[in-house]
Amino acid sequence: MDTVLNIISAKLKEAFEAAGYDSTRVCASISNRPDLCEYQCNGAMALAKQAHKAPLAIAEDVVAQLKGSDMFEAIDAVAPGFINMTVSGSFMAGYLNGMTNSDKFGLEAPDKVKTIIVDYGGANVAKPLHIGHLRSAIIGESIKRICNYIGHKAIGDVHLGDWGLQMGQIIAELRARKPELPYFDPEFKGEYPKEAPFTISELEEIYPTASKKCKPDSETYDPAFAAEAHDNTVKLQQGDPGCRAIWKHVIDVSVADLKKNYDNLNVEFELWKGESDAQPYIPAMLKDMKAKGILEESDGALVVNVTEDDDKKELPPCIIVKSDGATLYATTDLATIVERVKLFDPDAIIYVVDKRQALHFQQVFRTAHKAGIVDDGVELFHLGFGTMNGADGQPYKTRSGGVMRLEVLIREINEAVLEKMKEGRELSEDAEETAKIIGLSALKYGDLSNQATKDYIFDINKFASFEGNTGPYILYTIVRIKSILAKYGQEPSGCIRFTGEATEKALMIELAKFNEVIRAAYEEKAPHKICAFIYDLSNAFNSFYHEVKILTESDEQKKDSYLSLMLLTKNVLETCIDLLGFKAPERM
Ligand code: ARG
Repeated sequence: MDTVLNIISAKLKEAFEAAGYDSTRVCASISNRPDLCEYQCNGAMALAKQAHKAPLAIAEDVVAQLKGSDMFEAIDAVAPGFINMTVSGSFMAGYLNGMTNSDKFGLEAPDKVKTIIVDYGGANVAKPLHIGHLRSAIIGESIKRICNYIGHKAIGDVHLGDWGLQMGQIIAELRARKPELPYFDPEFKGEYPKEAPFTISELEEIYPTASKKCKPDSETYDPAFAAEAHDNTVKLQQGDPGCRAIWKHVIDVSVADLKKNYDNLNVEFELWKGESDAQPYIPAMLKDMKAKGILEESDGALVVNVTEDDDKKELPPCIIVKSDGATLYATTDLATIVERVKLFDPDAIIYVVDKRQALHFQQVFRTAHKAGIVDDGVELFHLGFGTMNGADGQPYKTRSGGVMRLEVLIREINEAVLEKMKEGRELSEDAEETAKIIGLSALKYGDLSNQATKDYIFDINKFASFEGNTGPYILYTIVRIKSILAKYGQEPSGCIRFTGEATEKALMIELAKFNEVIRAAYEEKAPHKICAFIYDLSNAFNSFYHEVKILTESDEQKKDSYLSLMLLTKNVLETCIDLLGFKAPERM
C-alpha cells in the first residue's frame, strides 16, 4: 500500500495537471497547523513565477478541481497560496481497512532485497559488560529488526573483542596462580582438559588484577609480569597450543555469560564472530594492499593515506602495521570486511559503535574502498552513538562512583518499576516477572527515544514512570487495549467505519502514519522516529478512550468498529515495540 501522503499527493498532482499546471514538484505534507487542517500542500507557491499567476489563484484553480472528491471533507485555498486539506472519515477508514487486511499493514517490500550486516554489541571477552556496551546492543538490535521488517536480510554480528592484550595478561595471571596446569608445561603432549580452569566470576577478578600488574602507574605494577603478558600475546598469535587452549576457555566461559546477559536484554546475534576470526585474512590482505601500492612506509610503520581532495580537515593516515610488526584495531576491522565480503557479499555494513570512534571508522572505510576490499556500491556506515550520562552530566556511574555494570543497572531499573507498581495496589504473584518486562521497556525506550548520536541523561525515575514519554506508558496503553478486548470477549470484525468522533478521526490519522514512519526509521537509521510515533499514537488512543464510550455503546455496528480500530492500534503498537526490541506483559 502506498502511504497516505503519497495517495494525497497523487490526487493533488492530477488536479494540478487538470487545471493546466506543472505537477512535477507537487506533494502533500502533514499540516504544521493541525488546528486548521490535517494535510497541506504548498505547491502553488512554487509555481507562481513559472505560471505568471498569483499563488492564491493557482491554489483556487486546483481546489476547484477537487471539490466534490470523496477523499476530502474540506479542501480550501488560503492566502498566500496554501491548499489546506481535511480528509474524509470514509477515506481514512478505507485506508485503515487496507492496513488491517494487508501483510505488515501494507508496507511494501523493497525492489531488491539487500544483505545488511549490523555490527553491534562489541563486547570484549573476559571483561564484564558495562553500560558503554548497552547502547550498542539496544540500538543495533533495533536497527537490525527494522531492516528485516522492511524486507531486507539483516545479519547481526556481535564482533567480540577476543584478540587483545587482555589475553596475554589473563594467561600470565593464571600461570602465577596455578603453575601446575598442563597448559604451562611445554612437554605436555596429551589432551588439555575440556573444563575451564576458572569460572566467570573468577575470570572477572583475574582480568582486572592482571591488567593492574601491567600498568606502570598502578601500585601493583610488575614489569616482569607485564613482559610475560606481552610474550603470551605473541605466543597466542603464533599458535602456541597451551595459550590457545586457555584462550578458548576464556572465550567459552565469557560467551556463555554474555549470552545470558544479552538474552536478558532481548538481544540476539546471528553471528558470534570475533576479532580473532579476522586474523587469518590479514596476510593476504596486506599482500594485496602492497601489490596495489597503497601501503606507504612512515617511521617504520605501514600506513594508507586516506586524504581526499575536498577534505576540510586533514585526516591522519590509517596505520595498518606498526613498526614492531604488530597489527592494530584498524587492521582487524579491515580484515573483518574481507571476511564478510567473502562469506556474505553484503550490500551494506552498519557499525553501531560509540561516536568517539568516528575517526577510526572514517579511516577504515576509506581504506576499504581505496584497497578495493569492498565495491564502491557497498555502503559502510558508522552509526555513532552518544554517551549515556548520569544526572551530573558525566558518564553514568554506580553510587560509589565506579563503572556501572549492566546487570546492576538492570536490577536497579527493575526495582524502580516494582516500586511504581506497588503504588496504590497489591502486587500479584507474577509481579516480579512483569517488572522485568516493564523494566526492559523503560531502559530501551529511554535510550531509543533519543536520537542515537546525542548524549542523554539516564534518569531511572523518569524512564520507569507509567506516565509521559516512556516505555511503561506505551506498555500501559497496550495492556489497556488488551483488557478491553478481553472484556468484549469476541473477535472484532476488523472492519472500521468512521462514526464522526473527533478523537476517533485523530486516532485514525495517527495510525495511518505507520508506513511512512517505518520507512523513515529505516532510511535514516532512526529508531527514535518509531518512539515518537508510538507516543503520539498512544496519546491519540488514550484521548479516544476517554472521550468515547466503547463497551457500553448500544449500536453494535459502532461498537464493533471501535473495537476493530482498537485492535489495529494494538497490533501496530505491538509491532513497533517489537522493532524496538521489547514486548508488553499481559497485565500491569
Ligand atoms: N570491542 C570494541 C569496544 O569495546 C567495540 C567493537 C566495535 N566494532 C568494530 N567493528 N570495531 O570498544
